[in-house]
Amino acid sequence: MKRIYLGTNLKMYKTNRETVTYLKELTEKTAALRCPGLELFVIPSFTALPEAVEAAEGKIKIGAQNMCWEDAGEYTGEISPRMLKTIGIDLIEIGHSERRHKFGETNFDVNRKVLAALRHGFTPLLCIGETEADKTYGVTTECLREQLKIGLYGVTGEQARRVWVAYEPVWAIGVGGKPATPEYANRSQQVIKDTLAELFPDNGGEIPVLYGGSVNSRNATGLIEQPAIDGLFIGRAAWEAESFAAIIKQVLDAGKRNY
Ligand code: PGA
Repeated sequence: MKRIYLGTNLKMYKTNRETVTYLKELTEKTAALRCPGLELFVIPSFTALPEAVEAAEGKIKIGAQNMCWEDAGEYTGEISPRMLKTIGIDLIEIGHSERRHKFGETNFDVNRKVLAALRHGFTPLLCIGETEADKTYGVTTECLREQLKIGLYGVTGEQARRVWVAYEPVWAIGVGGKPATPEYANRSQQVIKDTLAELFPDNGGEIPVLYGGSVNSRNATGLIEQPAIDGLFIGRAAWEAESFAAIIKQVLDAGKRNY
C-alpha cells in the first residue's frame, strides 16, 4: 500500500488550550478523510504534549519538537527521551532549521539525538535543508549529503526502518520564505533518496522523505505529485484546522485516494 505523510509543526505558537481546541477540530474535520495509508501528525510544544495525546484520541500521531540525547543529567532546560516516553508519543522532530540556525545545533548534535531517539524506540523525523548561501554557491547536494551522512551516522539498517526525513530548504521556510518549485524540490528529494539508498542498501529506498517550506493550498498538489515527495510537512498553512483539513483533502484527491 502507498503511504502518504502529512503533518505540521506548531512551533512556539499555541498554548495548551489552543492546542487541544485545534486537535479536536482537526480530528473532527479529518474524520471522513482518514485512510489506512495516511500518516497524519501534529507536533505541538512540550508543555502541551500530554493534553495533545489525549485530545488526538489516537487518530492523529503526536510528536515532540526536540529532545535531549541523554536519559538524565545536568542539562538544565532540556527534555529527555525517558520523559517523552512516559507521555506515550513515538515521533521526535530532530534538527529543524530553527534549531540549527537559531540555537546552533550541529550535525553532530543532531546525530546524537537521532541515535538516542532510535535507542528509545521513537521514530526520528530528521529535518535537513540547504541555506540560501548553499544554493547560491551550488553546494546543495553536498550540504544535504553531509547532513544525512553525519545525522544518520551509526544508525543500523534495522533502525533505518523507523527513520523519516523532511527536506526543508532554509530559504523556503517561514514568513519571507518562498516555496521551492516542485521541480527543484523533487531534484533535492531525489538526492536525498539516492543518499539514503547508498547508506542503507537494504531498505534506504523505503525511508519516507517529506517536503516542507511554505507549503500552502496553492502549491500542495503540485508538490505531492512529484515522484520523490512522499509527504508534506507544513507550518503556517496548517495552523487553522480548517485550512489543514482542506490541504489534506486536496492532496488525497490528487493521489486519487490510493492510500
Ligand atoms: P512554513 O514552515 O510552512 O510556515 O514555511 C515550515 C516548517 O518550518 O516546517
